[in-house]
Amino acid sequence: GDSHHRHAYDTGGGPAAGRAPARDLAALTGPRTGTPDRRFTLTATERSLRLASGERVAALAFNGRLPGPELRVRRGELVEVVLVNQDVEEGVTVHWHGVDVPVAEDGVAGVTQDAVRPGGRHVYRFRPPRAGTFWYHSHQQSGTAVRRGLFGALIVEEPAERPVGVDRTVVAHAWPVEGAAGGGGAPAGPHGPGGVMRTALGDDTRLRREKVPEGTPVRLRLVNADNCPRTYSLAGAPFRVAAIDGNDVSGPTALEGERLLIAGGGRFDVVFRQPAGPVHLTVSGDANASGAGGGFEGCGEDGAYGTGRVQTASLLMDPSGTAAPPPPADGPLFDPLRYGSPASAPFGPGTAYDRDFHLVLGNSLGFFDGRPMLMWTVNNAVYPDVPALLVREGDRVRTAFVNRSLDDHPMHLHGHRMLVLSRDGERATGSPWWTDTLNVAPGERYEVAFRADNPGLWMDHCHNLDHARDGMVLHLAYD
Ligand code: C2O
Ligand code: CU
Repeated sequence: GDSHHRHAYDTGGGPAAGRAPARDLAALTGPRTGTPDRRFTLTATERSLRLASGERVAALAFNGRLPGPELRVRRGELVEVVLVNQDVEEGVTVHWHGVDVPVAEDGVAGVTQDAVRPGGRHVYRFRPPRAGTFWYHSHQQSGTAVRRGLFGALIVEEPAERPVGVDRTVVAHAWPVEGAAGGGGAPAGPHGPGGVMRTALGDDTRLRREKVPEGTPVRLRLVNADNCPRTYSLAGAPFRVAAIDGNDVSGPTALEGERLLIAGGGRFDVVFRQPAGPVHLTVSGDANASGAGGGFEGCGEDGAYGTGRVQTASLLMDPSGTAAPPPPADGPLFDPLRYGSPASAPFGPGTAYDRDFHLVLGNSLGFFDGRPMLMWTVNNAVYPDVPALLVREGDRVRTAFVNRSLDDHPMHLHGHRMLVLSRDGERATGSPWWTDTLNVAPGERYEVAFRADNPGLWMDHCHNLDHARDGMVLHLAYD
């Protein structure tokens, strides 16, 4: 029943294997010798797990946990992660989302490595080049793998950083819950099962309380591990957006009441000082919810959001531990395009680019096994037929993303970070806005720039992983 993976870009080495990894990438590894500063083992298993809410998930999990363990390391350290696949039939890899590792450590099945089969293992070694909030996930049939739980947070701290106050990672994910109509977790059709989902902070759908003394500096690392953009509200204190996708914002100023839209796969760090009263973080559905109902593969299409029963998950921080939560903020959406203060960046209005690419994101109707099927396209083609972005090492590359469809596309580039130049013709004027996962909403046009400084064969794809499965993927390839 895996025939719908015919177009999948991350299927390799497992029972559904398509193509072999390109062998010339094998030399572009992290340090293969030397004693690691940090060593972790991630063991992938298939099992039924109970969420903190009591509901059960037919999960694929790392180390028996949903999400997998948070990995904390320091910039520049030699990190070694041993991936063990105990019994996940489909095979498993680990991709370090947002971390610019050497390509052979990038964990893309069928491209940089074979998927690890049940009983097998694979060792990743790399030195994270930048501090920030990242995450990791399997990149073998990643739509299913991530939906069912094969992911976790990866936090890179500065070498000299000392812990201050409260530093919490908040991973949001909608789980396919067992017992809900069609919600068992195993794919039931080309678009996976339908059914009720729960949005969770960690794996908890309830209000979670934390006693935080007044005056404590708090950093919340918000990770959106879903396909859809999610809207976050932080009510009760002025806060600053300190980092986006693991990149510090220069000169962030205080916000109050703004809601934060985070792309599927994206991360924001927010900081504030705990006031005398409660601070309430809530996560809710897609701000641009299309509300189509039915299966849960698309943004705003699942039961929890599509019918107007918008469900929020929340975290309440409060000195007393007993305060009532303030209502979610309902201010305007935060806009990184004009936030923070300008700082030096390698690209500006005067930059001469070596390459200019133009990517139109759309869809088209295809047929598979006689059934009509919506395909997600880049320049009217689906992977692997989308021409690669061809670059030479050292190139300055400019890319335009134009969304001519009616759904969001969180565009994720592996191995590089992109500087946002403009949106809909308006130039970015705030802090340099670096991103690895850029939400391109319907009708929007973004221009971004990056330096081709990490040779290899890389993925550039929509991080709505169902869109990726159904075509919206291309390669960045070095000559
Ligand atoms: Cu987070 Cu190619 O993926
Ligand atoms: Cu998409």
